[in-house]
Amino acid sequence: MTTTPMTTTPIPTPAATPPDILRCAYMDLVVTDLAASREFYVDILGLVVTEENDTEIYLRSFEEFIHHNLVLRQGPVAAVSAFAFRVRSPLDVDLAEAYYRELGCRTERRANGFVTGIGDSVRVEDPLGFPYEFFFDTEHVERLAWRYDLQGPGALVRLDHFNQVTPDVGLGRGYLEDLGFRVTEDIQDADGVTYAAWLRRKDTVHDTALTGGNGPRMHHIAFSTHEKHNIIYICDKLGALRKSDLIERGPGRHGVSNAFYLYLRDPDGHRVEIYTQDYYTGDPDNPVVTWDVHDNQRRDWWGNPVVPSWYTDASLVLDLDGTPQPVIERTQSSEMAVTVGADGFSYTRKGEEMPEYKLGHQL
Ligand SMILES: [Fe+2]
Repeated sequence: MTTTPMTTTPIPTPAATPPDILRCAYMDLVVTDLAASREFYVDILGLVVTEENDTEIYLRSFEEFIHHNLVLRQGPVAAVSAFAFRVRSPLDVDLAEAYYRELGCRTERRANGFVTGIGDSVRVEDPLGFPYEFFFDTEHVERLAWRYDLQGPGALVRLDHFNQVTPDVGLGRGYLEDLGFRVTEDIQDADGVTYAAWLRRKDTVHDTALTGGNGPRMHHIAFSTHEKHNIIYICDKLGALRKSDLIERGPGRHGVSNAFYLYLRDPDGHRVEIYTQDYYTGDPDNPVVTWDVHDNQRRDWWGNPVVPSWYTDASLVLDLDGTPQPVIERTQSSEMAVTVGADGFSYTRKGEEMPEYKLGHQL
C-alpha cells in the first residue's frame, strides 16, 4: 500500500439543511472473482439473491424489503464503490446534493439510479474521501422474515452497519455529526485522542463507525443474526467446510456496543462482521459511552486479544470515476501501537496494568 502524509483541514459546517438519513441501506462492492464471492455470500452465508447477471449479484437479508443490501460487482480491483444510505423522502436526495455541493464535494445525480432496484440517487466523494450514496426510491421485494422454510440456522436477517477507516476520527466525527449522525460510543485516551467512534441514525448503536487508521478505507460491513447461537452455527459450518481460515476474529462479545460478533474475510479480503444483540439508542438524550483505549475489555468483553490484521487490513474505496482513492496515513497514535505494541499497556481492572505475559500474547 502506498500512503501519503495526513493533512488535516477543518471541514466547515454547511448552512444547507442536511438530508434526513434513515439508515445504512446497502454497499456496492467490487470483487475480482464473482463466482468465488457468490460461493462465500450465497452458498456459505446464505444471503438471498434478489437478481443476478454475469457481472453483478444483488443480495439481501431475510428481513429486508428494499431491493438489496449488497451489490457484488465484478471488477479489476477489490474495493467499495458506494456506502449507500436511505433517506426519508425524495426531497432529501435534493438536500443531500445541495449539502455536499456546499461542502465543495464532487457529486453525481442519476434519476434512474446507479444500480438496479434503486431510483433517483446522488453519489458524492465526501470530505473524508468516501463514496457515499443517498436515495429514497427503491423497488420493494418480498420480506422473507416469516419464511423459516428458507432460513437456515445461520440466517442473516438485517444489514446492521458499515465501518470506515479514516486517519482523523475527531475530524470525521464532527462532519458526520453535522450531517445528522449521533455518537453513541467512542474510544479515547487521556490526551483526548479519539481512536474510534460509533454513529447512528436508526435506533441501534450505529449505522457506521469510524476506526482510526490509514484511510479512506472500508473496515467492514456487518449483518445481523437474531441470536448468538446463529453465529456459533456459522463458525461450525465454516469448520465443517474446512474453511475455518475465513474466520479472522471471534466469536466473542464486544465491550463497545455489547454485541456478540464474528469477523470473516471474503475471497478478496473484504471484511464481513456477523453481529447480534446490541441495545436501543433512540432517545434524544441517549448517553454517550466513552471507553479508555487502554481498557482491555473495550474491543472484546472477555479480554481476548485482537489479531493485528484486524487493525491493519482494510479495503480500498473508489472515487466516482471508479479509481481507488489514495490512502492517507494516520499520524495520531495508533490503537494497535498503544495497546498491543511493545510499549503498550492495558488493564482489565482500572489501576492495574495487564500482566506481561498477556501483553506478549497480544503481539
Ligand atoms: Fe462492526
